[in-house]
This record gives sequence, structure tokens and C-alpha cells, in this order.
Amino acid sequence: MLQFQVIILDWYNKNKRNLPWRDTNNPYFIWLSEIILQQTRVDQGLPYFEKFANHYPSVFELANADEQNILNDWQGLGYYSRARNLHKTAKELVNSYNGEFPSTYTELLKLTGIGPYTAAAIASFAFNEAKAVVDGNVYRVLSRVFDIEEAIDSTQGKKNFELLANELIDKKNPASYNQAIMEFGALQCVPVNPDCSVCPLQFQCLAYKNKTITERPVKSKKTKVTSRYFVYLIELSVDKTIRIEKREGKGIWQNLYQFPLVEFDSIEEKSTFLERLKSQFISKEYKHILSHQQLFAHFAIVEPSKKTAVNQLEIAVTELSNFPIPRLIDKFWEEHFKFVEGL
Ligand code: ADE
Ligand code: SF4
Repeated sequence: MLQFQVIILDWYNKNKRNLPWRDTNNPYFIWLSEIILQQTRVDQGLPYFEKFANHYPSVFELANADEQNILNDWQGLGYYSRARNLHKTAKELVNSYNGEFPSTYTELLKLTGIGPYTAAAIASFAFNEAKAVVDGNVYRVLSRVFDIEEAIDSTQGKKNFELLANELIDKKNPASYNQAIMEFGALQCVPVNPDCSVCPLQFQCLAYKNKTITERPVKSKKTKVTSRYFVYLIELSVDKTIRIEKREGKGIWQNLYQFPLVEFDSIEEKSTFLERLKSQFISKEYKHILSHQQLFAHFAIVEPSKKTAVNQLEIAVTELSNFPIPRLIDKFWEEHFKFVEGL
């Protein structure tokens, strides 16, 4: 074994967190956990993993579930396109694979909802295939230990990091090794101010030696502007209450309040949703420009739902101004509903 592998695995055995998706090699639970954890911290994702594993104990229950129930269970995690893709992939698995996950990286990648990272995670954790996972943690650890100046978000950079990661993987122990390097990035080689004085890789780490830790990993400057497609649901009741939710997690507008939001991957997906929506009113499109994102938002008045998710509140319309809300929503509110507050 390479010394790098020995150190990482040894560190992992001493420091790993006890997480439910590490006690299984059921590809369904592994897939579920990876999708939940994609843009979510472990402590935030954990209760959602438990909830989904309970409500949908296999890919069949998930595939047959009502999309609305899945989205309700997803409330609070954000990036709803993940939940919808989860559902779509579950249906694909049931319809074209008899509900059985393919057992190799290459075959997994053929599923529409599964990209290289998730395919590597399932192939290694469930089927012990020696395929390296390369997530943000892995990029950071490798770029520091080997003091790599190449940008992790360039096409060539991605290729080279993947090659390096696959050279370093412990072929005898791919599942543990992949968990180990991700956990090492999550707990020891953290993005800001890692405590190198207690790090077992200190004497190998070239960024530590060269004092370039704060410069690693390198990202190419140009961040491209992404388009996002939003529909806000206005759930206004006869007794003038309205449902709002708090934005949690990373990303824009953290801790601000908003009307329940449905997000789409494409303009087409959003149009289909709006066409099928039982709505009394759909607003014009609001375009909102942020530094790295442009948002295309509609507001739709819908029947109030019965359930209130953990991050949601039902408030009197007159109370809305007591909550911090994004400018985009404020603008819509002023143009259409400001008068309701005075009623
Ligand atoms: N983040 C993404 N995948 C993870 C995993 N399998 N364990 C812990 N954190 C993760
Ligand atoms: Fe990361 Fe510091 Fe350890 Fe290098 S020495 S791997 S920068 S924690």
C-alpha cells in the first residue's frame, strides 16, 4: 500500500463519524444519501435521510410515490430539482432495470439522473469497485497534499484530478478508502484554517511545506452565470393567512423568508409545471439578476396545502412585513398584494 493510503485509512478508522449510510451496501440507500448530501451538510441531511429511508424503504416505494409527497418530504432541503430527479431516476430504475441498480460505474452512468460522482460513490460503496469519488473534499485534499496549481474547474484540471484520484485509490479497499478521503476533507483538511499541526499528512503535504494552503484548490476566475427557474406558490387562505418558509442551507438568500418555492432545471420543465398547475393566477415573469445567477420567477396563487413543513410558517398577511424577504419577492408583493395588508 502507498503511504498516503495507509495514513488516510488509519486516520479514518480513528476519526470517522458513525453515519447510517456507511453501515449498508444497499445501493438504494447509498444513492439516496449521496443525492441528499450533494448540496447539504451531513448534520442537516441526516434527518432527511432517515425520513426518506422510512417513507420510501426501497426504490419501488419511491418510484410509486406521489411527487407532491416527495417534495413535501424534501421541504427545507432546497434545490428541489434534486428531489424531482430522485423521483425520475427511481422510475427509470423500476421501469427499465426491474428496480435493481446496475453494479458497475459504467452502467450506473447510463442512468439519466446519475453523474460521475454519484456513479463512483454507488459503484465503490455498494459494489466495491475501485473507482475514485472526486467531490469538493477530494479536490481540496489532493490539491493541497500534492500542491497542484491547476484549476479544479477547468476541463483538463478535472481530468487530471480524476486520474490522480484513481491512481491513489486503494484497489483492495475502495469503499473505505473513498469514504476516508472524503471524511478527511470534511473534518481535517477543511476549507478554511485547517489545523495542520495535528494532521497525519503534515510531513507529506506539499502545500503545507510550500505555504500555499490558502491558495489551494485553485479555481479559474471566470464564474459563469447560471440561470434558475423559480415558481413561488402563494398559499393565501380565506382568513388572510399566508404560508412562508425560511431559506436554509448554502446559496443565495440564506435565512431570508419566501413563499414556498419550486425550482426547475429548465425553462421547459417549468412551463410544463405551470401549464398543469391548478392556479387562480399566475404572474408575469420576474427576472432578477445576481452576481453569478439570473433568476426567472413566476408567482402562482394556489389552494393552501394542509401540511406545514418544519421550516415553514403560516402567518397573517399583515405580519409579512416583519420578515426579511428577498427584493424579488418584495417587488412582486408591492405590485400585487400590498393592499391586502391594509384590509
Ligand atoms: N458527503 C457526500 N457523501 C458523503 C458520505 N458518503 N459520507 C459523508 N459525507 C458525505
Ligand atoms: Fe490539509 Fe494541512 Fe493536512 Fe496538508 S497538512 S493535508 S493542508 S490539514
